[in-house]
Parts: sequence; structure tokens; C-alpha cells
Amino acid sequence: MKPLPTALALALTAAIVAPSGARAQNAPTVVEYRQGLMQAFRTHMGGVGAALTDAAPVGHAEHHAVAFDRMAQALANVFPEGSTGGRALPAIWSDRDDFMDKVTDIQTATARLVTASRTGDAEQIGTAMQGVRQTCSGCHGTYRGPAN
Ligand code: HEC
Repeated sequence: MKPLPTALALALTAAIVAPSGARAQNAPTVVEYRQGLMQAFRTHMGGVGAALTDAAPVGHAEHHAVAFDRMAQALANVFPEGSTGGRALPAIWSDRDDFMDKVTDIQTATARLVTASRTGDAEQIGTAMQGVRQTCSGCHGTYRGPAN
């Protein structure tokens, strides 16, 4: 590959290393980001549900399950120390080990959902989906405060 002209290379570098202005304006805060992640959980739960009806091809269950599982992996890092706010309760940080167990619970459940989704069998997918749903309430009951 031909080396990039210096000016272009510098402009590209600047675009990569200096997005702080754009980030401040457009990117979510840590609280907004994790709330968005929760909304993604809801979206993919709905997507799997749709794939079990005529609303979407059954093959879409796997697309949603895989995305769901990746989001569950991301969940481990969206409550950093000191990131209070939203409906997050202080116990998230004071009972850290138990909270992380709840994170592991949903990761285990979404991994099962991925396996089930690959069978294309509605009953297995439905059962795995139930397992995932229980992990939502299993965490919310202790670690999510009431809606304002
Ligand atoms: C390990 C704990 C945990 C698990 C598991 C979990 N949640 Fe949450 N969820 C929270 C917490 C804490 C909040 C509040 C976050 C905040 O406001 O900062 C929340 C907030 C939400 C919200 C509100 C987001 C908003 O826009 O304010 C939705 C919707 C939600 N969760 C859906 C789900 C669904 C669906 C699942 C299961 C598939 C799930 N959550 C699993 C802890 C969890």
C-alpha cells in the first residue's frame, strides 16, 4: 500500500485521537449507556419472542440470542465503582460479590439461549427464554430502585 500523504495521515490521526468534543456532545454518560444496554436486553427479548411467532423467521431467534449474550458479557463492566445514578442502588457496590453473581446468572442463561436458539425448536427456545427472564427480575428485585 502507498504511504498516506502526511496531511491526510495527520487528519486521520486527529480524528481518531481527538473526538473528545464530539464525545462530550453526543455520547451517553455511563448511566445512560447502561440504561441503553438494558433497553437492548428488552429489545432482544422481544426479538426472540417474535421469532417464536409468525412475526419473524425462527432463525432470527439466534441473531437475537447471540446479541443478547454479548450484551450480557458487557453488563459486567457497566457499573464501575462510584457510578451511582439512575435507578442503581448502592448495594451494587456494597454487595459486589452477590451483584456479580447475578451478572454471571444472566450470562449463563443467555449462553443457554444461544444453544437453544440453534436448535430452531420453539419449545427449547421458550424454556431458555424463561430462564433468562428470571435473571432479570432476580437482579432488579435487589439492585434496581423504584421508577421515579
Ligand atoms: C445484574 C443485574 C441486572 C440484570 C441481570 C438485569 N438488570 Fe435491568 N437493570 C439493572 C439495574 C441496576 C438497573 C438500573 C440502572 C440505572 O438506572 O442506572 C436496570 C434497569 C433496567 C431497565 C430500565 C432502563 C432505563 O432506560 O432506565 C430495563 C428496561 C431493564 N433493566 C431490563 C432488563 C431486562 C429485560 C433484563 C433481563 C434480560 C435485565 N434488565 C437484567 C440491573 C440488572
